[in-house]
Amino acid sequence: MECQIKNICCIGAGYVGGPTMAVIAQKCPHIQVNVVDINRERIRNWNEKDLERLPIYEPGLKKIIEECRGENLHFSNEVEKNIETADMIFISVNTPTKKKGIGAGQASDLKWIEASARKIAEYANGKTIVVEKSTLPVKTAEVIKNILEFSNVDQTKYKTQSKSFTVLSNPEFLSEGTAIKDLENPDRVLIGGDNEESIKALVNIYLNWVDETKILTTDLWSSELSKLTANAFLAQRISSINSISALCESTGADINDVATAIGADKRIGSHFLQSGPGFGGSCFKKDILNLIYICNHYGLNHVSSYWIQVLEINNWQKKRISNIVVNKLFGTISGKKIAVLGFAFKANTNDTRESAAIDICKDLIEEGANLNIYDPKVSLSQIENDLFTLKTNNQINYPIESTVTICKLIIEAIKDSDAIIVLTEWEEFKHLNWEEISSLMRKPSWLFDTRSICDLKKAKSYGINVWRVGMDNEKN
Ligand code: NAD
Ligand code: UGA
Repeated sequence: MECQIKNICCIGAGYVGGPTMAVIAQKCPHIQVNVVDINRERIRNWNEKDLERLPIYEPGLKKIIEECRGENLHFSNEVEKNIETADMIFISVNTPTKKKGIGAGQASDLKWIEASARKIAEYANGKTIVVEKSTLPVKTAEVIKNILEFSNVDQTKYKTQSKSFTVLSNPEFLSEGTAIKDLENPDRVLIGGDNEESIKALVNIYLNWVDETKILTTDLWSSELSKLTANAFLAQRISSINSISALCESTGADINDVATAIGADKRIGSHFLQSGPGFGGSCFKKDILNLIYICNHYGLNHVSSYWIQVLEINNWQKKRISNIVVNKLFGTISGKKIAVLGFAFKANTNDTRESAAIDICKDLIEEGANLNIYDPKVSLSQIENDLFTLKTNNQINYPIESTVTICKLIIEAIKDSDAIIVLTEWEEFKHLNWEEISSLMRKPSWLFDTRSICDLKKAKSYGINVWRVGMDNEKN
């Protein structure tokens, strides 16, 4: 008999759990969707009346929350209760890099996955389909299955309630900033599993809005590994283009022209070839580290060395940019004021995890600069938190309180600055008034455009020295 899903529970109300479940709820009004989290503040924010205060900023998200919340979409801290009533449970918790113990610095920390699996083992009823939404090392489904089957639950309860579980892998490919568009119109939906009935149940959910030709089904391990591989390939493209950006700067070629020329080849493709300050975000680095760990585990050291280079180029790009700023400003930025425009790891998100801005700001602070930071969506407390974390981790020795000012307006950040560095490609940075800006800056003034988005000709025409990633900055 075909399994009809009526009640979904999603464990983890983060950047993936929140938007993914919002879209499922919107597209499947016949399904009740409960998103649960142990983080009380996050859930409180998801339930905020004022939609400006949702915990995540994503274009299009507010509208869906307004439409579905309280109807068939609910956010709650009641993890156990919602597991009990669900016939399908998505695990969408964080899987960061392990900080301690075996595999520290590379392997994924699966303690939140394990905690979720144990809760499910204890509280689920009847037949439950468990779906891995988090990004996981290949073979994690085996661990989850083991916990579900053999966990230390009340065996009498287990028997009387005759629980049974199937595990599917359904990795998420959304990008932050375009999450809703990506979810509504995915390139593909990937479902890995070994139980036909459960796969069908999940396929049926997606069929409410995704064309069946885009729904790929595989075995569990191929699905898990495809997610890590997709992120590794994407990150590799960015490191590749960034490596060439340095060569452009030395040779007089222009990285944007090179990207257009190579991207016109269908085999290469034009997306994801924008040179920048280095990739950030919560996943690329951690997923590549995880891939490296798995390769080493299987003795594939040549393969792991290959992927290590992708991370090395990324670190090098960030460092390279900090060094250029120092060199251009006569070799010292001690006591100089630098306006940092953009702190999010990319535009259209308030997420700063692994943002290149964090590392570049760290370097500039270490060189003695005073930073005025402005970002249109990242909260003051988030920026403070990111920079104070550097201090508590002893990655920085400077008093952040006296060297960093977080500004509410661009103009405030720019006033009396010696240089501007653009680190996130926010739309508003594309339309800056260079005449006004130039009049507010100290001379000689500099613009460092790490995203290739500013009108350099205009900036130059008002006497500002410019540097842009991937062009010969001496010639131009
Ligand atoms: P996140 O940190 O924003 O959210 C995870 C949430 O899970 C947190 O709110 C946390 O409190 C909650 N949580 C942890 N343990 C819990 C438990 N035992 N019970 C209930 N709640 C618990 O993380 P995210 O960015 O949403 O990422 C989640 C997963 O999805 C990761 O594996 C990530 O690699 C993957 N992923 C992320 C993205 C992205 O764009 N952020 C895209 C694709 C895949
Ligand atoms: C990435 C992937 O694109 C998603 O498919 C995946 O689901 C997700 O990781 C994940 O697993 O978390 P995300 O990190 O949200 O999504 O954003 P991207 O658009 O991939 O950007 C990542 C970083 O690369 C950003 O810092 C961005 O500025 C940088 N980037 C991206 C470039 O420097 N150049 C580009 O051409 C593209």
